[in-house]
Amino acid sequence: MNGMLLTLDAPETADREEFRNAVIDGLTRRPRAIPARFLYDARGSALFDEICELPEYYLTRTETRILAERAGEIARLAGPGAALVEFGSGSSVKSRLLLDAMNELSVYTPIDISRQHLDLSAAQLRRDYPGLRVEPVCGDYMSLRSLPRATENVRRLGFFPGSTIGNLEPADATAFLRGARRLLGEGGALILGVDLRKDERELHDAYNDSAGVTAAFTLNLLRRMNRELDATFDLSAFAHEAFYNSEAGRIEIYFRSLADQTVRVSGRSFAFATGERVHTEYSYKYDLSGIEGLARSGGFRVTEVWTDEGRRFAVACLRAAP
Ligand code: TRP
Repeated sequence: MNGMLLTLDAPETADREEFRNAVIDGLTRRPRAIPARFLYDARGSALFDEICELPEYYLTRTETRILAERAGEIARLAGPGAALVEFGSGSSVKSRLLLDAMNELSVYTPIDISRQHLDLSAAQLRRDYPGLRVEPVCGDYMSLRSLPRATENVRRLGFFPGSTIGNLEPADATAFLRGARRLLGEGGALILGVDLRKDERELHDAYNDSAGVTAAFTLNLLRRMNRELDATFDLSAFAHEAFYNSEAGRIEIYFRSLADQTVRVSGRSFAFATGERVHTEYSYKYDLSGIEGLARSGGFRVTEVWTDEGRRFAVACLRAAP
């Protein structure tokens, strides 16, 4: 225990503090909610990678197929000498599809909040693409104010895949797009991955897989609170809950208490009634006119929409409106 405390460096302590504040605040307010970014500790990230492979979770494989099919077209749209800027790059798996097709890129700028992810994937990209200039930016793409020098004076193509835009509330999605529009500049464009509205059953199943991986992903947050915040969540007394709210056009994800119980977190007590739930995430689904409205609200216009034959997922090209 002492040894562990000694190895805690300052940033880790700050992260822990931020997590504690967010959890205490989130469990105190009504309705209760904990920000989704805390789902992604090491185990959460590994579980999310597993989600992407699930038979019910069509999003990743459908988007990957569309990108693989359209990479050449996207490369032509960007033109030679462009900069590729990825918002929330993670391990940069999908960007490789574009990088493979864009052999005249002047620079690739992955933006990610995780220093570890960023450094590792930058090193791997430099190894696999020896001629490519990689200029990573560590930070929150929601509040980023500038891009590296190397992206100045060239056409900038943004990339925001994974329907991550759907995890933002519409007002935040607009704010994100406005920020991206400013960073990408006049003549800039954004390749955006968006999950489409569809049969409710199919949407429901994508977030309620039969192997229980999505449930494990949600409940991992409780495990993380137990470990990092001295919490006493009984993982068998809470359940993952995800359903499609058709009025709002979104999947809503929660963990729900299966009993009347009291849980301690970081020295405080929180009472849960049976059925009481804590929100963790939304996943908004759009139709084509919704994508157009969103683009317009962010200072873009939609110039291309590529989709799969089942019309499950869309990859859109947004051009900066003058
Ligand atoms: N953006 C993806 C989606 O909305 C990934 C995702 C975010 C996700 N949170 C999730 C997937 C929770 C499953 C469960 O689907």
